[in-house]
This record gives sequence, C-alpha cells and structure tokens, in this order.
Amino acid sequence: MGKKLNVDIGLPADDSEVQAFTRIVSQALFFPAVDLDVWIKREGPENIRVARRKDGVVGGLIVQRMGQWFGGRSVPMGAVRAVGVAPEHRATGVASQLLTTALEEMRRDGVPLSALFPATQPVYRRPGYEQAGVRLTYRLPASAIDVRDRTLHLRPIEPADRDAVRRAYSERARRTSGNLDRNEWYWQRIFDPPPWGSQTYGYQIEHEGRAEAYTVFAQKAGDKLHNAHHVELVDLVTLTAEAGRRLLTFFADHRSMAKTVTWSGAPAEPMLYLLAEQASNIVHRLDWMLRIVDVRCALEARGYPPAANTDVHVEVVDDVLRHNHGRFVLEVSDSQGRVREGGGGNVRIDVRGLAALYTGHLSPADLKLAGYLDGPDEDLAKAALVFAGPAPWMPDIF
Ligand SMILES: CC(C)(COP(=O)(O)OP(=O)(O)OC[C@H]1O[C@@H](n2cnc3c(N)ncnc32)[C@H](O)[C@@H]1OP(=O)(O)O)[C@@H](O)C(=O)NCCC(=O)NCCS
Repeated sequence: MGKKLNVDIGLPADDSEVQAFTRIVSQALFFPAVDLDVWIKREGPENIRVARRKDGVVGGLIVQRMGQWFGGRSVPMGAVRAVGVAPEHRATGVASQLLTTALEEMRRDGVPLSALFPATQPVYRRPGYEQAGVRLTYRLPASAIDVRDRTLHLRPIEPADRDAVRRAYSERARRTSGNLDRNEWYWQRIFDPPPWGSQTYGYQIEHEGRAEAYTVFAQKAGDKLHNAHHVELVDLVTLTAEAGRRLLTFFADHRSMAKTVTWSGAPAEPMLYLLAEQASNIVHRLDWMLRIVDVRCALEARGYPPAANTDVHVEVVDDVLRHNHGRFVLEVSDSQGRVREGGGGNVRIDVRGLAALYTGHLSPADLKLAGYLDGPDEDLAKAALVFAGPAPWMPDIF
C-alpha cells in the first residue's frame, strides 16, 4: 500500500456529499451516467457511508441490511456494495478504513454477518472477509428441455400476488444455506426493475391456495436472423417437482424464438434433475465473501442440524475486530448453539476460515489444507458435524 492517510467516515452530511459519493462510485464502477438520481434514491442515502479528507468526499460504500439463512434461521447480515474510491486517492487505505468502520458499526447494531461480491479480493480479505458460498449461472438450450407437463395452472403475477410470491421465496430460502432474507430494496429490484434494467415478465403457479412456483424473467434479443434470442431468469423458485415440470414446459414453449434459458441456481440444481440429459453449462461463477462480524452472536443466531449434540472448543484469531479474538466453546443441542468464553481452544481458526466453516462452504479438513485451521482430528470431526448442511449458495447478486 502507498502511504496510509486517515479519513473521516460517516453518513453523508448533506445532499452535496450524497452527490459527490454518487459521482465517485458511478465512475469507479463504470455505471452509465444516466438515472443516477433514481439509483441513489432507491439505495437510500441513509445506507451510504462516505470517507472525507479535507478537500471533501474521496470514496464510500453502501450497506443494505438483510438476512441470510443458515440452519433454518435468518441471521442479520449487512450486504456491502458500491465500494468506490476516487482514482487519485487509491492505495492510501480509504477502502480499508471504510470497511473496518462499517463492520464496527454493524457490530454495534447487532448485525453479526456481512457479505459481499468482490471485484477483487485482497481489499476484502484484509478486513476479514473470505469466500463462503457460490453464485452459479446455468445456461440450458431451450431445445434440450424435453419435459411437457401442463397439469398445473400457470398465470402472470399480479401486484396482489406479491406477498404469496415472497412467501414461496422464503419457504425455499430458509431450507438453504446462504440464500438471502431479502429486504424491500431487493424485492423492488425484482418486482419494479429500475429504468436502466430490462423489461421483465412474471408468472406463477398457484396450487391449493399457495404459490408453488414462480419466475421473473427478461427477454434478451440475440441474432434476429436466426431467432436466437435468450430468456434470462431474474428469479426462479419451485417448491415441488410438479411445479418444476410445469415451469420447464413453459420455458420450452419459448423455443421457437429463444435459443437458451439462463438462471442462477443451487450447486446441484434440482430443476436439472427433471431433464433426460445433462444439457446445461455453468456459464458464470462468482463466490461471495462473508465476514463474521461478531463470532458469539453469529454462532448463536444460526440453526444447527437436529442430530448434532456436541460442543466445539475454538480459538479464533481476529486481528481486525478484537472482540472476536480468543477462546470460545460452542455448545449445540436441539438445533441451537450457545456460546461461552474460554475452553480448551482445541480448534484454532482464523476468522476468515471461520466464515467458510460457518456457511459449510469448506469442511474442517479442507480449511486445514487452506492453512486456516488446525486441531486434533476428533475436534475437527465435531466441527464437521455441527457445521454440516446443504452447500451454500445464493441466486442473488448485489
Ligand atoms: C478496489 C478499491 C475500492 C480499493 O480502494 P483503496 O482505497 O484503493 O484500497 P486500500 O488503499 O484500502 O487498499 C487495500 C488493498 O486493496 C488492494 N487494492 C488497492 N487498489 C486496488 C485496485 N485499484 N485494484 C485492485 N486492488 C486494489 C490492494 O491489495 C491493497 O492492499 P496492498 O496495498 O497491501 O496491496 C478501489 O481501487 C476502487 O474504487 N476500485 C474501482 C471500483 C471497485 O473495483 N470496487 C470494488 C467493487 S466490489
């Protein structure tokens, strides 16, 4: 790093600081210079933190408060996005100070996790984030969909259906590791795309009084001569195999115009099990990073496998947020975790490794190979039992 210079960090003091932040971040992230007022209004100026030097704002970030599902419980999470520093002020520690200050604020507010999608990793690893789950994008040729099942009734999503759609989303999300407990800001992105987004279409399958599946998608124009257009799903939830077959049939019904269907799904995607052949490709992968902001709160807020009745003695190494540094005992019973200070510290783990252990992204054995963890095999086996669960993923990006 170049010379580290101190910055003053806080909420934008007035509208001119909001405008300065918007200018810096839109330049940093290569946003088109249109609709920026709409963009920042949707984000909520109260979620911005700016970094100032004597000449004014030099950078900033946004934290959207959401939750993330682990072990059947929604754990409060600060979603960090729109991190940007004016190019003439880079490599002087602005982003590092912004992130550390945002993490300290989350801790004060009782938010024990923070997640983000990195454009580059070192700047996020430094304050304690680590890869902890995947976002995978699948592409399937429409012609490879061999399912034809129109049994269930499918119809457009009306504004009055939005609560039912949100319930369907939550029913799926709480059974995963890592799906978002979306806030209003995220749902607005799904239901009311901003002016710079594509037009979207929403359909749901209603069965026995509930939304059993839904999708929201955009249609991307491709090669017009050959009718090679693309259906890109913004959101997709199915709660039963019957509903999955009906939705696949619906996508196949686009095949005279659409060449492919693209969506973000689980590491082993149940929709693909409904097809005869392995016809899809993963066209994009980006791992999200997680920071355990408060070890004790994070461990007590999530759920655990009902069959796990044991305790794990850990020693956490955290050089950035010192309240996390030290020995803890995690006692798990009845799907609940209780944490007390002290214990033998048998499993020694860096707080970044703890992020990947917490979500179930890496096993204790693999964390040992990554250099993040050490301890006797019998303690690693207990940790493996406690943090076992579905592979962590999320379809969303922020
Ligand atoms: C990435 C960015 C926010 C870093 O801000 P910064 O204030 O320069 O970062 P810091 O000075 O705190 O540096 C911390 C670490 O970030 C890394 N870093 C700094 N500038 C970087 C750059 N331009 N690109 C990639 N990594 C960078 C370095 O590893 C640095 O540590 P080091 O000096 O020990 O190598 C800034 O370069 C930026 O605004 N880039 C464009 C927008 C962007 O990519 N945002 C991230 C979106 S997820």
